[in-house]
Amino acid sequence: MVKLSKAFEGRDIIDINDFSKEELLFLLKIARKFDPDFLKRSKRSNYTIAQGEIAAHLFFEPSTRTEQSFRSAAQKIGMGVIGFNDLNVTSMHKGETFNDTIRIMESYANVLIIRHPEVGSAKRAADIAEIPVINAGDGPNQHPTQTLLDLYTIQKVFQRLEGLKVAFVGDPKHYRTMRSLAVALFKFAKNKIFGISPAGLEMDNQFKSESYNDLAINMKDLDKTLEQIKPDVVYAGRIPKEYMKKKVKEFSYLINKATMDILPKHSILMHPLPRVDEMDPEVDSNPKAIYFKQARNGMYIREALLALVLGRI
Ligand code: CP
Repeated sequence: MVKLSKAFEGRDIIDINDFSKEELLFLLKIARKFDPDFLKRSKRSNYTIAQGEIAAHLFFEPSTRTEQSFRSAAQKIGMGVIGFNDLNVTSMHKGETFNDTIRIMESYANVLIIRHPEVGSAKRAADIAEIPVINAGDGPNQHPTQTLLDLYTIQKVFQRLEGLKVAFVGDPKHYRTMRSLAVALFKFAKNKIFGISPAGLEMDNQFKSESYNDLAINMKDLDKTLEQIKPDVVYAGRIPKEYMKKKVKEFSYLINKATMDILPKHSILMHPLPRVDEMDPEVDSNPKAIYFKQARNGMYIREALLALVLGRI
């Protein structure tokens, strides 16, 4: 336990691949200490666990969930938060470099949380900064803290992370949360992932294993395809047009009541959000649709992660 705590202290959180299965399970266990579903409110004693520490938010790209849940998580464990989510209010607007911005912000904080549109930007920040850097999404590459909350959500529902059938729906090629989640799920035994997308948007090989199945379909056949697979988890995603370099043929899909009726009784529908038009709001009240709970779980995971990298657990 202490050894695993030490493995997180001072650590950069850049790539989900950097974590062993044991470390992932340890983090998920610690997150339960912050989750009221597992802990009576009267027993909570984590409000001051990281008092005196400062998180600096460097959000070079828009975010609602990641930024605000990190902000909430930090404050819930007693930390202060500084930073920006609009470059126009920083001196980068006057020409200051990325490197200098990182150096300056690290001198005011104990942990940096960065979201940036470029692949590798979080690693670049970590190479410059001496304090821990957390990747809050680097372009289409990875979104490791989203993956941690996705794993937490799956484990909370199924009490396991093994032997699951997971259907990614949308654009596995460009969607960073699917890339990170695939890498993480393949650390656990007997998981099968189906990547359902139009042809040309299959997941890049570096994020796949032999248990990954590309299913390039006409998205009009989505329900039929899901009926055949019978997934435990449907992981839907927005079509991230901002990362599509080549001209990709426009496509859309819709998960609606008919789709939900086709899915197995025990299955869940996840989505990292934001959604645009891929899920009909009529499915929100379906017990299988757990994306709002999923987003809430992000706060508990981020409380645990901040406390761990700061050596407070
Ligand atoms: N899931 C997620 O990363 O959402 P935001 O872009 O709003 O942070």
